[in-house]
Amino acid sequence: SSIEQFIEGIPKAELHLHIEGTLEPELMFAFAKRNNIKVNYENVSEVKKAYQFNNLQEFLDIYYAGANVLITEQDFYDLTWAYLIKVKKQNVLHIEIFFDPQTHTDRGIPFETVINGIHKALEHGEEKLGISYRLIMSFLRHLDEASAFKTLEQSLPYKDWITAVGLDSSELNNPPSKFQRVFNKSIEEGYITVAHAGEEGPASYIWEALDLLKVDRIDHGNRCLEDEKLVKRLVKNQVPLTICPLSNLELKVVTNLKDHPIASMLAKNLLVTVNSDDPAYFGGYMNENYIAIARALDLSKRQITDLAKNSIKASWLDDTQKEKLK
Ligand code: HPA
Ligand code: ZN
Repeated sequence: SSIEQFIEGIPKAELHLHIEGTLEPELMFAFAKRNNIKVNYENVSEVKKAYQFNNLQEFLDIYYAGANVLITEQDFYDLTWAYLIKVKKQNVLHIEIFFDPQTHTDRGIPFETVINGIHKALEHGEEKLGISYRLIMSFLRHLDEASAFKTLEQSLPYKDWITAVGLDSSELNNPPSKFQRVFNKSIEEGYITVAHAGEEGPASYIWEALDLLKVDRIDHGNRCLEDEKLVKRLVKNQVPLTICPLSNLELKVVTNLKDHPIASMLAKNLLVTVNSDDPAYFGGYMNENYIAIARALDLSKRQITDLAKNSIKASWLDDTQKEKLK
């Protein structure tokens, strides 16, 4: 339809994507085979049948199990390259993506194996596909502060390859304040900061992310709408929210995409963007997310364009680079 073609045509940036969340079942079986690892499923359709979640934790359990097939630098390279090829076809011109080192270092995979594979693919993507990128190292908030500090330490030799630190995994009962000291140190080391907040957790976690972790963007942030003062602050400072429509639907943050608040967020002048989060698990990459939300909310071309423009505005490209993407 014309709205699909319109979405395919506009330049976009993806700002909320976990590289581990791009592990398609076909690739999972290929890695399992070459690494001699057993997966809990017989075939691809069995895997897809298992991807039904009632909340964030049910997803995370399956997502961390999936990551067990990632062993070698080549695996991380191939995973990242497969994602780059996908977004290239969707007119995504710039990406700022997360990786979760602790998911791998806790299994005995060296930090350098993970980052070397991802970095090499991103460099090739920039060179051969023209996709610019930034890399965000995300701490797992269900683990303790000491583990996050250790991860920060491991990242320091690779500082030039990493733009920002983030915070993801089980949100409830793991408030941003748990990582205030780690984020302070990260800022001292020159990293920008972002955090998942207000996906399942309360609006107070968004305040903490802003005030204690000094974040540049909020990942998700849906629950800001419960706090009028917070919305005012986010609007005034134009703090970007990286919204993930299909993720919100699959993790029951919203019960129906027709109830998704992104249109009213736009109307409130919140700097909202559309992203895919974990596309292999939630059933769609960037354009599928744009198309699903545009259809459900009957978005106008103007609203769709505003969302895409917001993604470039909210990125960490410099102003000249942003101009080129418009
Ligand atoms: N929320 C928290 N942790 C995550 C997510 C998410 O949406 N995706 C991958 N890890
Ligand atoms: Zn996420």
